[in-house]
Amino acid sequence: MVLDYKNAEITIAKELENRSSSTVLQDVVDFLYAKFEKYSWVGIYLVKDQVLVLGPWKGAQATEHTRIPLGTGICGAAAKSGTTEIVDDVSKDNRYLSCFLSTRSEIVVPIKKGRYILGEIDIDSDRPAAFDAQDRVFLEKVADMLSQHI
Ligand code: SME
Repeated sequence: MVLDYKNAEITIAKELENRSSSTVLQDVVDFLYAKFEKYSWVGIYLVKDQVLVLGPWKGAQATEHTRIPLGTGICGAAAKSGTTEIVDDVSKDNRYLSCFLSTRSEIVVPIKKGRYILGEIDIDSDRPAAFDAQDRVFLEKVADMLSQHI
């Protein structure tokens, strides 16, 4: 399992090397969705004028939450604080903005450049408590790599 994360990190690093194409974010979203079965919905929100605006995403369904004010929902909390949020049971978190009935847990990882929050990676899982420290470390590295491409 550790190898899965390491291999995924290397694949993404290679994928991003010397690339400035506008499809980079979508490619990484597609890769994460395909690589980890427990990642049921993967999206990237970008901060524009104090609002999180949904960018590339991959999953079975579109979300109605395409614009989320900073501070609102789990997404808005992570973007405001600049800290990764892991929610093991979304039904027990009153900040949670529901997108899909099947979602049981969620991770939101800010994408930062210095002290600026550029956006975030948001992943929903249909499994309870799907995200652990390995996901957090891995996705924070991915966020760091993506910050060069936003
Ligand atoms: N659940 C998020 C909203 C975004 S959807 O998961 C795609 C939240 O609570 O902020």
